[in-house]
Amino acid sequence: MSIEDFDPQYLKSKTILITGVSKGIGKALCEKLLDLGNIVIGTSRELSDLQEISLKFPRNFYPYSLELENINQITTLAEYIEEDFDKLDVLFNNAGILGQIVTLEKYDFDVWKKVININLNNQFYLTQRLLKLIKKSKKGSIINVSSSVGRFPRETWGAYSISKSGLEALTEILSQELYKENIIVNSVNPGGTATLMRKEAYPEEDQSELPTADDILPIFLYLASDEAKETGMKYNAREYIGSL
Ligand SMILES: NC(=O)c1ccc[n+]([C@@H]2O[C@H](COP(=O)([O-])OP(=O)(O)OC[C@H]3O[C@@H](n4cnc5c(N)ncnc54)[C@H](OP(=O)(O)O)[C@@H]3O)[C@@H](O)[C@H]2O)c1
Repeated sequence: MSIEDFDPQYLKSKTILITGVSKGIGKALCEKLLDLGNIVIGTSRELSDLQEISLKFPRNFYPYSLELENINQITTLAEYIEEDFDKLDVLFNNAGILGQIVTLEKYDFDVWKKVININLNNQFYLTQRLLKLIKKSKKGSIINVSSSVGRFPRETWGAYSISKSGLEALTEILSQELYKENIIVNSVNPGGTATLMRKEAYPEEDQSELPTADDILPIFLYLASDEAKETGMKYNAREYIGSL
């Protein structure tokens, strides 16, 4: 089946973890998946920033406080999911930070390490910790949220570009290693989307010209569904706008 034939109404009753659902793409995705009838564990560093979603979806939303820089918190999150849900069907590695937009010559090394840790190292650790739970799913899916500068490294995008390039490589290796396990692993580049992170990167831009986080959801929903069989692919969310 391809995305054109996919009906999101059948995407329900899955147990899904999305990192970074307080705003932007993660929030839009989280609310859509909850609306369809899935169980979503959604994270933010500040639990109070998840209150709005909790109020809207009191029955199937499970807010969780996670600082991705903190390895112990990641271990505890994996233990919580194992104890309370036993398995995980879908993992969206969505949370991320931009870091600095400067040349490598000027890049602050502490910021560099923070960006690589949050966007790559600790997403690897989270994914690794969750693999045994995803293997318990009838059909697992891991979706890594990447960027165009992860596919085509770009000047002044420094650690962000390199972290996303690493995430692309991680996606490919994992897809090969899990090929026989009924787990698909893909990356999605959202493309310029009207969010706070985009505003940070392009403060002068008029965001009303950009797709919204809701607009770009179709490929994310498809990849979470039982219908998606593709693995090791690099998707561009913009190509699927309006396809559902
Ligand atoms: N928007 C675009 O144009 C665009 C383009 C290409 C790729 N992307 C990618 O798409 C993903 C979502 O971006 P977005 O635009 O929706 O960004 P956003 O609006 O800035 O949201 C980022 C999310 O990540 C979470 N987060 C940030 N730092 C964190 C940390 N240290 N620990 C745990 N969570 C943290 C935030 O949660 P809290 O602040 O509540 O903790 C927030 O929910 C990112 O991976 C980004 O690289 C976006």
